[in-house]
Amino acid sequence: MATEVAGEQLAGLARYGSVHLVDEVGSTNDYALSLAPKHVTAIVIARRQTKGRGRFKRPWFSDEASLTASLLLFTDTPDFPHPSFLTHLAGLALSRAVEQVTGLATQIRWPNDVIYKDKKLAGILCEGRKSAVAVGIGLNVNQESFPEDLPDAGSLRMATGRAWDKLVLLEGFLREIFAGIERTGNGESAQVLADIKARSAIMHRRVEMQTLLRKHVGTVIDLDSEGRVVLRTDSGRLIVLGAGDVRRLR
Ligand code: BTN
Repeated sequence: MATEVAGEQLAGLARYGSVHLVDEVGSTNDYALSLAPKHVTAIVIARRQTKGRGRFKRPWFSDEASLTASLLLFTDTPDFPHPSFLTHLAGLALSRAVEQVTGLATQIRWPNDVIYKDKKLAGILCEGRKSAVAVGIGLNVNQESFPEDLPDAGSLRMATGRAWDKLVLLEGFLREIFAGIERTGNGESAQVLADIKARSAIMHRRVEMQTLLRKHVGTVIDLDSEGRVVLRTDSGRLIVLGAGDVRRLR
């Protein structure tokens, strides 16, 4: 990948941290976390990922048409957002970046999938080790089709009919996530949360939420200040859920 990257693009990315371009890696999140002892903000971009993983340890499909990257951050930085809020900030940042670059009005499927017309364009996995946290993004950019076992997947190319530059998208994501972190540090969390809700694909919708322990069916009433789902179940109980898989019901 390094040979294809223009100097000015690299300089654009390097404004946000030290840039590591790798041809092949197991998982960019692991690579990023291996850099943690240096305690320097870093961006890892891989052309190929052989053991990419998603939430709940699921395998993550990617190929050379994907953007697979991880941003290494440190929670012991002054005014750093709570790690559970970071995951929502990352979803907002990626949804905004995709919209700014491509014009697609993307939504966030809680907690942080980026979707367009019910197709999943991107997934985000935040993983921490001591004060380091890797924000891993897998964005389907230039695929023209997906394996049959991924009927829910879509790409920017499939949605728009044209190819996109992966690093322009990554730079947009970096700009947006650092802006979101700065806003929360400046006491604007409520406004950031309002932006997240405005893009949420599940607000006021009937959903099925699968948690580790059980399945809940109900209507999403709100997202609380930590970004957790407030659900009114069909049996009339109000519950707050911080993790799980959401499926919209008609
Ligand atoms: C999900 O939707 O389950 C999250 C998928 C996250 C995939 C990205 S690709 C870059 C980074 N490295 C990984 O191993 N996973 C994340």
